[in-house]
Amino acid sequence: MEIKRILTGDRPTGKLHIGHYFGSLQNRVKLQNDGKMFIEIADVQALTDNFNNPEKVKGNVKEVLMDQLAVGLDPNKVTFFLQSMIPEIAELTVFYSNLVTIARLERNPTVKTEIAQKRELFGESVTYGFLGYPVSQAADITAFDATIIPVGEDQLPLIEQCREIVRKFNSIYGEVLREPTAFLGENKRIKGLDGNEKMGKSLGNAIYLSDSEEEITKKVMNAVTDPARIKKDDPGNPNICMVAYYHNLFSKDNVKNICEECKQGKRGCVACKKQLIKNIMEHLSPIQERRHYYEERPKEVREILFEGTNEAKKEAAKTMEKVKEVMKLDYFKDK
Ligand code: TRP
Repeated sequence: MEIKRILTGDRPTGKLHIGHYFGSLQNRVKLQNDGKMFIEIADVQALTDNFNNPEKVKGNVKEVLMDQLAVGLDPNKVTFFLQSMIPEIAELTVFYSNLVTIARLERNPTVKTEIAQKRELFGESVTYGFLGYPVSQAADITAFDATIIPVGEDQLPLIEQCREIVRKFNSIYGEVLREPTAFLGENKRIKGLDGNEKMGKSLGNAIYLSDSEEEITKKVMNAVTDPARIKKDDPGNPNICMVAYYHNLFSKDNVKNICEECKQGKRGCVACKKQLIKNIMEHLSPIQERRHYYEERPKEVREILFEGTNEAKKEAAKTMEKVKEVMKLDYFKDK
């Protein structure tokens, strides 16, 4: 049977939080056993909206890598690589850019939303690089002949755009590329501490995988609970309580009891929050221990990325050879 080729990536713009964990990292940990898995640290893509802050991108490369290693992605199974070290991706991006219209990029719902959110950076007119990042993402995927792309729902329009590029390429030049499919898995979107639908760094409502017990205590103690519950023995409504929401993620077995007691006014918010802090820490401790191992061994972390990138380069070179051949860009190959 053919070995599955799985690829996904992250922009290195910040440490990973529990939204990433329940939304995608857990999924990746399972998938690493199902085929050949590549994980890209998309530093070039991160620059499309952080071109004025290269230090931020650089600094987060190792943070994102350590977070992935911490959750149990095994460097012996997964090929971690750095996008900027694979020039083939940049080359493919140029070739593919002929196969996409500006109007099509402007209609991409994900890109559209992001542009609207980044008015401050882009002003009235978005950059060519940002508008075109779906083209570069199509290159990320196809350079490695990956067909299974574990992503969140927000990435579906990007995968669709990649599929269109692949079809167009194959119809013009020949059947060289394969169409990828998004793999959503049990992708859950995790709400923020403030009740916002999305947990995000820019929203300031995230619990990071690397947060200390002190930081987690502070965050949970300030999480939004039922506003109508003023005294400890007022009956509470767990449906509008973020602490109850996180208990559902971290406290599987005893969550029913906890919320029942709350509804009856038998358990106060402070006791409930303390329990949650304890359960979050139990869950994060092994992750943080592994992270700690890597934090103390920066050489090993560098080596993982270096080796992975070298391996990835070889894969991308194979694709490039086929692409150049069908595009008639193989001038000096004739004997
Ligand atoms: N755009 C993705 C994100 O913002 C990151 C990414 C870059 C990616 N290249 C990829 C995801 C290739 C899947 C496949 O999360």
